[in-house]
Amino acid sequence: MAIPGRGRAHPSSDTSAAHARDSRPHRHPGFWPDPAGFDPRRFLPGGAADTATRHRYAFIPFGGGRRACIGASFAELETVLVLATMARRFRLELTARGMPPPRAQVTLRPGRGLPMRLRHR
Ligand code: HEM
Repeated sequence: MAIPGRGRAHPSSDTSAAHARDSRPHRHPGFWPDPAGFDPRRFLPGGAADTATRHRYAFIPFGGGRRACIGASFAELETVLVLATMARRFRLELTARGMPPPRAQVTLRPGRGLPMRLRHR
C-alpha cells in the first residue's frame, strides 16, 4: 500500500489503516479547531476528540486498522493511574523556559526533554 507523503509500502497488510509514524492527522485543521493548541478539553463529551463523533483515524496514537495496538486500553488506564498517583502527592513545575521544541518520533515528544521540578503537596 502506498503511504501518502511517504511512498513506502506496508510489508504486512494492505488494510492496516494507519502506519504513518507522524502526527499529521493530530494537527490537521480539517479535524481540529486550533490544531496546534494544547486543549485537553477536546476529549470531553461533545468536544472535537469525542470518540462518539470524531473521525476514527483523526486521533491515532495507538495506530489503527487491523494492526492497531492491542495494549491501548491498558496503556490509557495505566497513564491515568500513574498521573493521578503522582499528581496527588506532587506538584509538577516546568523548569525550562518557553515551549519545548517538538520532535516527531513514533510519538511526538519534547525535543530536549522536559525538565520538571517536583514539589511535595
Ligand atoms: C502509551 C503506550 C502505547 C502506545 C503509544 C502504543 C502505540 C502503538 C502503535 C502506534 C502501534 C502500531 C499500530 C499500527 O501498526 O497501526 C502499536 C502496536 C502494538 N502494541 Fe502498542 N502502544 C502502547 C502500549 C502498549 C502496551 C502496554 C502493550 C501491551 C500490553 C502494547 C502492545 C502492542 C502490540 C502487541 C502491538 C502490535 C500489534 C500488531 O501488530 O498486531 N502496546 N502500539
